[in-house]
Amino acid sequence: MTVPPPIIAPSILAADFSRLAEEVRAVEDAADWLHVDVMDNHFVPNLTIGLPVVQSLRAATKLPFDVHLMIMDPKRWAPGYADAGAYNVTFHAEACDDPVALARDLRAAGARAGLAIDRDTPIEPYLDLLPSFDTLLIMTIKAGFGGQRFIPQMLDKVRAVRQHVAAGHLDLRIEVDGGIAADTIEQAAAAGVDAFVAGTAVYGADDPAEAVHRLRGLAERAAPDA
Ligand code: DX5
Ligand code: ZN
Repeated sequence: MTVPPPIIAPSILAADFSRLAEEVRAVEDAADWLHVDVMDNHFVPNLTIGLPVVQSLRAATKLPFDVHLMIMDPKRWAPGYADAGAYNVTFHAEACDDPVALARDLRAAGARAGLAIDRDTPIEPYLDLLPSFDTLLIMTIKAGFGGQRFIPQMLDKVRAVRQHVAAGHLDLRIEVDGGIAADTIEQAAAAGVDAFVAGTAVYGADDPAEAVHRLRGLAERAAPDA
């Protein structure tokens, strides 16, 4: 089993928002994507940022935006993030009646389409939809807050998807989000993850860029074909 080289995506949820542009620049040369968590206080209890902030931030960095929408009614809002220049727009399966149609809309708007699966949602009903997506985001916590503990049982979903991707020759990034740090990233990489979101592990570190490099090295060495 071979997997692509790892993507490391720092989550700005753990950054100091009073100096957000500097925090983003701190990982500019180290990271692959910038993970942007949009929460609406309905799909999840927490409330973060929305489209105007993402539009402003777009001008502050060259990093591709990996927008993670934890919102109700993504059909209404998600294409706006693609129009704002997001590289990848991920919405939650639990919040969408017709994920394939929305994926089509996102691709038509020039973005890659991502499907997110929360902690309590099984993966099996979604396997046949994966050819419509570029990214599958498997939550390794319950969506809503940073700083939670990684749930290793979620890697069973990763292994199921990795097999499905290999058997179907799908071009799909398998991403995990929640509790990814130096002591958890290797098991995720070994299970077949190739994109890693890390908030606390990056922005809680003294040197965020160094933390990204370290995570990347651990993921590379633990990958199945390494
Ligand atoms: C939480 C967010 C995550 C969060 C991860 O629902 O989707 O992206 O920032 O934070 P850590 O890496 O601290 O678990
Ligand atoms: Zn996220």
